[in-house]
Amino acid sequence: LCSLFFSLSISYSLSLHQMRSDEDGLQAVDELVRTYRHSCAWFLGPFYNMVRLFHPDYVKPLLLAPASITYKDELFYGLMRPWLGQSLLLTNGTKWSRQRRLLTPAFHFDILKNYIYIFNKSTNIMHENWRRLLAEGKKDFNMFEYVSMMTLDSLLKCTFSYDSHCQECSGKSDEYISAIFELSDLAVKRQRYLPHHWDWVYHRSAEGRRFRRACEIVHSFTAAIVQDRRSKIDQQGPPESFTQTAKRGYRRTVDFIDVLLLSRDENGEGLSNEEIKAQADTFMFAGHDTTASAISWVLYNLAMHQEFQDRCRSEINDLLSGRDSEEITWDDLSSLTFTTMCIKESLRLHSPISAVTRYYSQDMSVPGERIIPAGSICLISIYGTHRNPDVWPNPEVYDPMRFDPDKSKQRSSYAFIPFSAGPRNCIGQSFAMAEIRVVVALTLRRFRVLPGSKPVKRFYMIVMRTEGGLPLMLEPLMPAQE
Ligand code: HEM
Repeated sequence: LCSLFFSLSISYSLSLHQMRSDEDGLQAVDELVRTYRHSCAWFLGPFYNMVRLFHPDYVKPLLLAPASITYKDELFYGLMRPWLGQSLLLTNGTKWSRQRRLLTPAFHFDILKNYIYIFNKSTNIMHENWRRLLAEGKKDFNMFEYVSMMTLDSLLKCTFSYDSHCQECSGKSDEYISAIFELSDLAVKRQRYLPHHWDWVYHRSAEGRRFRRACEIVHSFTAAIVQDRRSKIDQQGPPESFTQTAKRGYRRTVDFIDVLLLSRDENGEGLSNEEIKAQADTFMFAGHDTTASAISWVLYNLAMHQEFQDRCRSEINDLLSGRDSEEITWDDLSSLTFTTMCIKESLRLHSPISAVTRYYSQDMSVPGERIIPAGSICLISIYGTHRNPDVWPNPEVYDPMRFDPDKSKQRSSYAFIPFSAGPRNCIGQSFAMAEIRVVVALTLRRFRVLPGSKPVKRFYMIVMRTEGGLPLMLEPLMPAQE
């Protein structure tokens, strides 16, 4: 039915290239967007038929659809279920609405403010490591390697108050951290190998067994923390820091687990241990690699455009001049205007997530009186929308001036959707933007970032990475900090 309908209204594309997520595959998507401009139907073998959309006017009605008719398809998201359980990312309908209401307070500014100190500290550790490696004569730094360990370090502290020291020992000795990396890796492998989409086959394979073992490690780690914290709260009441009295460095900051344990719906009911565990596992999955990809690509883009890097650095130096401390505070974030424009342009050009997929229980109208029949899988292409020449002139050029506030006003708010949009947008968006700004600001204050020794080839592995790392060079600008 879907294909019949679209034969009347929307062009088809059949190229196998467009299924690939490497450099060639991404260039094929660029070509597809240049050719079709708003959407096309896409066949994945004889069974799956998909509508691919890459124009703000077409993605808007889909992203704005109420949760009651919106579903995440099992084809992509189902593979994550054994790891993430019934969490916000994977649930639908009323279950999702309840969870979203209960989780929203965890991302309130009053809570996020507490994490800025953690972002500063984790960045400082990364920078100390860089200075040591520079002194040892290291030239190329694979940004993903360092930045993803640093975002993991921060997220473990913000979610569980767990200080893993993973940046000091590359996390190799920590069973939980190895399991997190292994799960992301195995999830990508499974997605790419069709026979492993069948549980029966996958669970009997060596990779399936490794996946199960890693899930057990992650689940028991999270369960132990949730149980322990619940009994502490039952015995001693809410943590003192919850009432904003924490003295930084002396007491534990209120973390996500605390907030989730104390969250109540309108009937006074909270989340069960099982639900909290699922949310915490999801934050670890959804929050660390995405933010690491975003930060790494900002540094790459600024390395390639020294003029913008210099402008960011003056902004940051002006902000911090005359202060005793190098710490970026919550209030500083809104002063980093040009730096934020550079970050947004990088999120456009190198969007960490390439697409989100949905299906709907009703026919959906898109412009031109076209209808997407109920049940069709819709691939809302973030990558394609961000590179649509009808919306972004010269889309492949890195130009932060596109995010000059006056220019942004003239664009559809669905033209820039790195965190998706509408009711199911990213709940961690403000957390991520705060972390990115702290890390980028401190890095540019202390280092000049220069292109690495070899060109990069983009590659989506859940998040946008590269084939064989993202090498950049670093030049220290100030003496190492105490
Ligand atoms: C640059 C960093 C990030 C990017 C680009 C990003 C992007 C996204 C996108 C595109 C979605 C929609 C997924 C979908 O509809 O299938 C999403 C959802 C989500 N993100 Fe993020 N994310 C980032 C950081 C974070 C962080 C730091 C957290 C948590 C600490 C987080 C937690 C979540 C959760 C729980 C959802 C599901 C929301 C729902 O369905 O209601 N994300 N994110």
